[in-house]
Amino acid sequence: MRQLRLGVNIDHVATIRNARGGRHPDPVRAAQAAAKAGADGITAHLREDRRHISDDDILQLVNEIDLPLNLEMAATEEMLEIALRHSPHAACIVPEKREEQTTEGGLNVVGGHNHLAPFVRALQEADIRVSLFIEPDRESLDAAVALNAPVVELHTGAYCEADLEGDVLRRKTELTRLLDAAAYAEALGLECHAGHGLTFDTVGDVAAIPTIVELNIGHFLMGEAIFGGLESSIKRMRSLMDTARAEATDARSA
Ligand code: PXP
Repeated sequence: MRQLRLGVNIDHVATIRNARGGRHPDPVRAAQAAAKAGADGITAHLREDRRHISDDDILQLVNEIDLPLNLEMAATEEMLEIALRHSPHAACIVPEKREEQTTEGGLNVVGGHNHLAPFVRALQEADIRVSLFIEPDRESLDAAVALNAPVVELHTGAYCEADLEGDVLRRKTELTRLLDAAAYAEALGLECHAGHGLTFDTVGDVAAIPTIVELNIGHFLMGEAIFGGLESSIKRMRSLMDTARAEATDARSA
């Protein structure tokens, strides 16, 4: 059975802190709690407008947290310079502007090839593992290969939205898209991650996809933390992921 890693995205701890200024709640403390609760990595998105995570948060996460840091970043010169300065374990290139995005929300890797290629190259040359946040479709996966990216993160937003809306048919269709894309990623030799909008209700079916090796989850975990504490929400997510992965593995070998 392939291990399934959990990356905890702490952006929205910073969102709450920034609502009042000051230092509370501290995203670095959240990262420490995530480590204690069984996270395999910490994810943080330094946005161009600094609406949640700050430059200082990134500095502290790099210096004070033992877990690997996955820096989500737009493909801009400013973000590249920051990534190269801090040398996080990984960088995930995400869209921030409308023109960088497909209509569904993933990075426009097909139309954006020429813009993205130098960023992928520069990060790789600095030994930073690069992933591209893309829609779960073959065209985007082919484009990721053309960009020499070793890792893709499949956007689970449409699948999670269908679940929230109670649209059973669309949920099934979107899950099938994720399954197909994850299998195609494996055939292309890409390491496959997934994330966006995952909840206790949606994580199991994604965790059961055998070729996905990492899930990045944030907003729901932070929301649940309000009711039961951060460590408890992460532990429950971890347990749901691990159970779904183990059950799917057993079902395939039966
Ligand atoms: N993966 C990527 C690439 C993201 O941009 C985000 C959202 O910042 C996530 C995962 C986590 O999404 P959510 O906060 O909805 O769990």
